Amino acid sequence: ALQQAISQLLQSVLTVIGIVIMMFIVSWQLALIALIALPLSAIAAGVIGSRAQGLFTRQWKTTGALNGQIEESFSGHELVKVFGREQDMVTRFTERNDELFDASFGAQFVSGTIFPVMNFVSYLAYVGIAVVGGLRVASGQLSLGDATAFIQYSREFTQPLGQIAGMANMLQSGVASAERTFELLDADEQKPEQATVVLPERTDGRVEFKNVYFSYTQDKPLIEDLSFEAHPGHTVAIVGPTGAGKTTLVNLVMRFYELNSGSIELDGVDITELSRADLRSKVGMVLQDAWLFGGSIMENIRYGRLDASDEEVIAAAKATFVDRFVRALPDGYNTLIDEEGTNVSAGEKQLITIARAFVANPSLLILDEATSSVDTRTELLVQNAMAALRQDRTSFVIAHRLSTIRDADTILVMEEGQIVEQGNHATLLEADGAYARLYNSQFAGAIVEEEALADSIAKVAGPQGDSPRV
Ligand SMILES: Nc1ncnc2c1ncn2[C@@H]1O[C@H](COP(=O)(O)OP(=O)(O)OP(=O)(O)O)[C@@H](O)[C@H]1O
Ligand SMILES: [Mg+2]
Repeated sequence: ALQQAISQLLQSVLTVIGIVIMMFIVSWQLALIALIALPLSAIAAGVIGSRAQGLFTRQWKTTGALNGQIEESFSGHELVKVFGREQDMVTRFTERNDELFDASFGAQFVSGTIFPVMNFVSYLAYVGIAVVGGLRVASGQLSLGDATAFIQYSREFTQPLGQIAGMANMLQSGVASAERTFELLDADEQKPEQATVVLPERTDGRVEFKNVYFSYTQDKPLIEDLSFEAHPGHTVAIVGPTGAGKTTLVNLVMRFYELNSGSIELDGVDITELSRADLRSKVGMVLQDAWLFGGSIMENIRYGRLDASDEEVIAAAKATFVDRFVRALPDGYNTLIDEEGTNVSAGEKQLITIARAFVANPSLLILDEATSSVDTRTELLVQNAMAALRQDRTSFVIAHRLSTIRDADTILVMEEGQIVEQGNHATLLEADGAYARLYNSQFAGAIVEEEALADSIAKVAGPQGDSPRV
């Protein structure tokens, strides 16, 4: 609208001013008649424009809703089929589409009436000028030449006016779209960076939570007065029921959210004093929902550190057992993963994201349910590999399986945003509190199986390691 309208607007306005001056020079009486058309046109354009504005807003809103629904049904088409909701989706689409049709039809119709209405007003003025001008020529007060010239001017006069109305129309549609953009722009900004401290290349990885309070929404407190310290090189396991706030805790370390009060320190430096990029470059994170982008497996692993050589990528892939299944693929590391990552299994996806964290070689490692979709055997093998990775760096591990948790230096037991217990496996069992209850109910059976499995793997390394019992 700005590109096209501004230059045209300037031209139209200058033309109108020039013509008005000429009309007054020729005959001020006729000029007055011509000018009466102006406020009339303005009123008509104003009334129609304000109605069109509302309809345009509705048109863009429903366009957005319709597009959203189309995207949703495409990305979730498996679920739609599983639950037999095809007809339901079609009905909802039709409803939205009808709504869009109504809004667009209304908007086009109403805004389309601007031109004819303005033309009508200008023709009225034209008739007035012709009649009055004719009478004045007949009575000899005006020459025929002047009258003809004036009629020409009045014709020229309405054309730029029509153009201005057309531009107003275009702007209205633009403003309606802009309203939706402004909703996004008006969202709260994230706090500006302070970046008063720059961390050295290699950090110790000491993380300390000091009286941290945090909630996603004001009326629902989540983390309250949470304090703990993770020593350099230690593995901190976080356990607790679903919704306890485990993911939230590690998100706070990454500074995805701002604390309500309290502080988190990395090597004794408040993380709000670091730039977000600096902080995050020190942390490698494997998220609960594994994310791969469209590209080769090699590229997906290298995403952890872009200057990693092919050898480094393959070494990481070997350590995380990605190599094993990649070899079976015809294109190997050049196998393309599609955008939704549907051509690798959920477990393979997780292994690739772990390899990515391996390549990044960060000071601080966060694994959020990183191996939840991998079979128990592969998980144990990955655990062993990760033990090496975890050795000289602090790591936070969220897992439901005991084998990971048992060997951790510190176990934090979370319930409803609180740390209800902390200590290592032995002391927590002895304390006979929440951890012991969790252990007895959830893990007691599993541990026997896991231990048997671990034994069999230890005894016979390699793919034939499973004993028939397991
Ligand atoms: N972005 C968000 N906005 C509002 N509430 C949220 C948000 N993310 C999580 N929550 C809420 O915060 C609570 C803790 O969520 P969190 O993801 O930390 O749980 P969790 O311990 O990681 O659970 P799980 O074991 O299922 O992964 C939950 O009650 C959840 O509904
Ligand atoms: Mg979680």
